[in-house]
Amino acid sequence: MTSLSQIQCLEDFKRLAKRKLPGFAFDYIEEGCNDDCAIRRNRRVLDEVLLEPHYLTSYREPDTQVNLFGKAYASPFGIAPLGLSGLIWPNASIMHARGAKQANIPFVLSTVATISIEQAAKEAGDNFWFQLYPPADRGICIDLMQRAWQSGCRNLVVTLDVPTPSRRIKAIKSGLSVPPKVSVSNVLQAACRPHWSMATLKQGMPEFANLTPYMGDAANNMQDAANFIRTTMRDVVDLHYLQWIREHWQGNLIVKGVLGVADAKDLALLQVDGLVVSNHGGRQLDAAASPLEVLTDIKQLVAEDLLLMADSGIASGVDVARYLAMGAEAVLLGRGFMYAVAAKQQIGVHHYIELLQIELQQVLSQLHCNDVQSLIKHLG
Ligand SMILES: Cc1cc2nc3c(=O)[nH]c(=O)nc-3n(C[C@H](O)[C@H](O)[C@H](O)COP(=O)(O)O)c2cc1C
Repeated sequence: MTSLSQIQCLEDFKRLAKRKLPGFAFDYIEEGCNDDCAIRRNRRVLDEVLLEPHYLTSYREPDTQVNLFGKAYASPFGIAPLGLSGLIWPNASIMHARGAKQANIPFVLSTVATISIEQAAKEAGDNFWFQLYPPADRGICIDLMQRAWQSGCRNLVVTLDVPTPSRRIKAIKSGLSVPPKVSVSNVLQAACRPHWSMATLKQGMPEFANLTPYMGDAANNMQDAANFIRTTMRDVVDLHYLQWIREHWQGNLIVKGVLGVADAKDLALLQVDGLVVSNHGGRQLDAAASPLEVLTDIKQLVAEDLLLMADSGIASGVDVARYLAMGAEAVLLGRGFMYAVAAKQQIGVHHYIELLQIELQQVLSQLHCNDVQSLIKHLG
């Protein structure tokens, strides 16, 4: 039994998660795509970002608060949208929502998470943001947006960067798809992880809770549900579709998955409110730039008009500081929060948030940087 005091960084969570999860579930979190070049690039580029201390300037207790879209948050990081979260642990997204609410950070629920918009809103309150994969059926799209709005959500994150499923080699081999392939190997892997298996059996097969209301009888059968998602839920998110969403969503519209100046320019013209510069944690395009490599150019172009966030590759509070020094106003973390749940469930989420806060405070103090907005002056 690993005690919390023995978990002091993301690698500790990851090691424990590997011991707790069947291989196919662990791979679902860890894998990038193709040869995992984008994952390695994210790490390499982060490691190259240096921060310069100003030891001779006056110094006070650093302030980590940020204001995003009119709400003050305690820290400049939040929980990224994570699909199929119930595969990692039953109610993983509820644990994330509760952790975010308690720590006052954003929680972004994925369209394809395994809890509903309504549950997420109940747990996260006004820390709840909703991520939309725009469906081909505009009626469903309107309904999802209305449900989010009526649940109190004011920040809609539309993901751009999944025009097609990516090639995740281990997932293809293990049959981790919708519907999942029940192979001898997967059953054996699950049998070797009794804690996970018992928790999963007790809860039942994870389902796409946001989408079941639209599935009719298809919801009762994995193959039909898979066909439904393939045909009804997928559409190309081009400028026209985004324009239409802009016209139908009265809250803040944030577009996630931007990696180039050309797209950022179009989005600014469309009057979206924010961008998440992201390569989806290296899970979609193996030849993608790291968000840090394009952040400065995008910021120069659009900083006046909209709020710039980013994600991909962040493991620690030092990484959060690096992204902020490069121009992001806030960041999201994906895998870290999945490993935290897998390793220690609810207390894992609280502990990971606390570690990130401690690390961020420490690096700010070390730099003599009084608040997170001033990190940009410390780029080495
Ligand atoms: C297991 C997993 C599932 C994800 N599901 C979604 C999703 O449903 N929607 C989405 O916009 N991004 C999704 N992402 C991408 C994250 O929101 C985020 O961009 C990425 O994880 C950031 O990189 P990091 O994992 O290195 O922190 C997923 C990422 C992971 C690891």
